[in-house]
Amino acid sequence: MAVIELKDIKKVYGKGLAKVEALKGINFEANKGEVVLIMGPSGAGKSTFLTIAGTLQKPTSGEVLINGKDASEFSSKQSGKLRLNEIGFILQAYNLVPFLTVREQFVLVDKIKKHNNLSKEDLNKLFDELGISELTKKYPNQLSGGQQQRVAIARALYANPEILLADEPTASLDTANVEEVGKLFKRLAKERDKASILVTHDPRLEKYADHIYEMMDGRMTQKK
Ligand SMILES: Nc1ncnc2c1ncn2[C@@H]1O[C@H](COP(=O)(O)OP(=O)(O)OP(=O)(O)O)[C@@H](O)[C@H]1O
Ligand SMILES: [Mg+2]
Repeated sequence: MAVIELKDIKKVYGKGLAKVEALKGINFEANKGEVVLIMGPSGAGKSTFLTIAGTLQKPTSGEVLINGKDASEFSSKQSGKLRLNEIGFILQAYNLVPFLTVREQFVLVDKIKKHNNLSKEDLNKLFDELGISELTKKYPNQLSGGQQQRVAIARALYANPEILLADEPTASLDTANVEEVGKLFKRLAKERDKASILVTHDPRLEKYADHIYEMMDGRMTQKK
């Protein structure tokens, strides 16, 4: 069974002259153990797709199924719980908390979500893989864009979600770090059975993908 399935999803923003049809009937599914890339130009609807798939916003019509369950029937408490326990978000803005150090970002996760986070050992390994072990005492504004991005990736993975949704996770990374992040998502899929859906413009991630979709004007076509 697919972990995430979208059936004929449409999303309309605004009204009258300001009306934008951001998604025009998307059918999509992702399975555990897969890395899926969503590519396409600016304004194609990629972030809209990702936030609807993660139940952060509702579609105008169509169904989102998470582990076979219709997300539109979840109460706000249930969708909150789902996003906390099953879905890891890495969004376009890095969303680190500005007044917490790198280490404290993770302590915060422990406060909000008390169970099933990575062990200390696994977290240290993840820090090493992402090359951020030396940064734990720094604040976000003392980090480069790429470093912030890698901390945001580590924080999403720390909560050990089943599904990872990432919007441009490699946008400010150099080639070596892109390769590390690509390998990391691939390994999480193959060794830990995670489903990763990555929105990206970055062709350097293509070799790590099981499936590639192209978005254009609110429609999606499968390329691989
Ligand atoms: N909250 C909103 N209100 C109104 N229109 C919106 C809103 N969010 C997105 N749109 C519009 O919907 C369309 C799709 O936007 P979206 O952000 O999903 O594109 P994208 O593919 O993620 O682009 P980018 O690569 O630039 O991030 C665009 O025309 C955008 O202007
Ligand atoms: Mg976007």
